[in-house]
Amino acid sequence: MTKMLITGGAGFVGQRLLDRVLGAAALTVSDVQGGTAEVTVDEVVCLDVAEGARRDPRVRYVVGDISRREVVDACLDADTGIVFHLAAVVSGSAEADLELGQRVNLDGMRHLLARCASLGHQPMFVFSSSIAVFGVGMPARVTDETQPMPLLSYGAQKLCGEIMVHDHIRRGVIRGGSLRLPAVIVRPGSPNGAATGFSSAVWREPLAGRAYALPVPRETRMWCASPRVVTAALLHALSLTPSQWSPWPALNLPGLSLSMQDCVEALDRATGLGHTVGEDLDPVITPMSRTWACDFDTPRALALGFERDANADAMLRAYVEDHPEEIRVPLNEGPGGL
Ligand SMILES: NC(=O)c1ccc[n+]([C@@H]2O[C@H](COP(=O)([O-])OP(=O)(O)OC[C@H]3O[C@@H](n4cnc5c(N)ncnc54)[C@H](O)[C@@H]3O)[C@@H](O)[C@H]2O)c1
Repeated sequence: MTKMLITGGAGFVGQRLLDRVLGAAALTVSDVQGGTAEVTVDEVVCLDVAEGARRDPRVRYVVGDISRREVVDACLDADTGIVFHLAAVVSGSAEADLELGQRVNLDGMRHLLARCASLGHQPMFVFSSSIAVFGVGMPARVTDETQPMPLLSYGAQKLCGEIMVHDHIRRGVIRGGSLRLPAVIVRPGSPNGAATGFSSAVWREPLAGRAYALPVPRETRMWCASPRVVTAALLHALSLTPSQWSPWPALNLPGLSLSMQDCVEALDRATGLGHTVGEDLDPVITPMSRTWACDFDTPRALALGFERDANADAMLRAYVEDHPEEIRVPLNEGPGGL
C-alpha cells in the first residue's frame, strides 16, 4: 500500500500532476537501497485550502491550512511513501504579505518535514522550488554553479525551504530533493498571485478572445516551461538516487528563454492576433521583472534525463490541446499555425 501526499494539490501544477499520477500504471521511485522500484499509488491525499476539480476514488482532498501542524500531521501516516510539496504563497503575494509568506512557506515546510521525519521510513520528498532563488547580481546566463541569492521574499523562502529539505536528507529522515521550476505557462482560468502571471496571460487572454496589455515591456525575457514538461520533471525526480542528487539536492530545470515578443509572435503565427497584445507597464511588476534570471544553462538536469519544450509554438499548441474549453478564437492551419 503506497500513499502519496500532494500539498497544493488543488492548484495549477498540483491538478496537472494529479492527472499524470492517476494516469500512470506505476511510478519509478528510487528506493532506500539506492536502486529504483516500480510503485503503484493506491491513494493520493491532496492538502490545500480548497478542493480541486479532479475526482477519482483514489483521491482524498483535505481542505486545510498547511501552516497548522495538526492539519499536516493528519495528512500523513505509515503508508505515505511519496510527498510532493507544492503548496505555497507565490511571488507577488509573498512580497505583499511577508507574515503570510513566512507562515505558509516556512512554517508549512517545517511541519511537513517534522511529520515526514516522525514516520521513520524516509519518504520520498520532492519540493517545487523556483528559479526565484536567483535574483541579486545574476550573470547573463545562470549555470549549475551559480550561487542562489534571492532578491524577493518569495525566493528567500524557497531557498530556505531547499536548505531545510537538504538538512532533513542529510539527517536521513527523507529522500529526494528540490526542483527549481521555471515560469510554468500557460495557466488556464484565472491568475494566482504570481508576479509572473503575464507570461501565461499573453497567450491565454487573446486565445480566449480578450484583448491583453502586458504589464512589462515586450523585450522582457522569462525562463519558461510547459505544464507537461514540469509535471514530467516532478515525476522523474522520484527516480533519482541520492548519488544523482549529489552534491546538492536542488536542480535548475531546463526551460526556454522566451521574450514576451517571442510569445506575441507565436500567438500571431497561431491566430494572427498578435496585434491585440498591448503594453500598460505596471510600476511594481516592471522593476521586479528586471531582477529575474531569464536564461540558464542546465547540463546537470539534462544529463539526468529532464526534458524541455521544443519551442514556443509547441508550448502554445500544447495549451490549445490541453484546454480546448479556453479557446474562443479561430486558429490558423498549416505551417506556423496549429
Ligand atoms: N507556476 C509557476 O510558474 C511556478 C514557477 C516556479 C515555482 N512554482 C511553484 O510550484 C508550486 C505550484 O505552483 P502553482 O502554479 O500550481 O501555484 P498555485 O497557486 O496554483 O498552487 C499552489 C496551491 O497552494 C495552495 N495553498 C496556498 N496556501 C496554502 C495553505 N496555507 N495551506 C494549504 N495550501 C495552500 C493554494 O490554494 C494553491 O492551490 C508552488 O510551490 C510554486 O511556488 C510555480
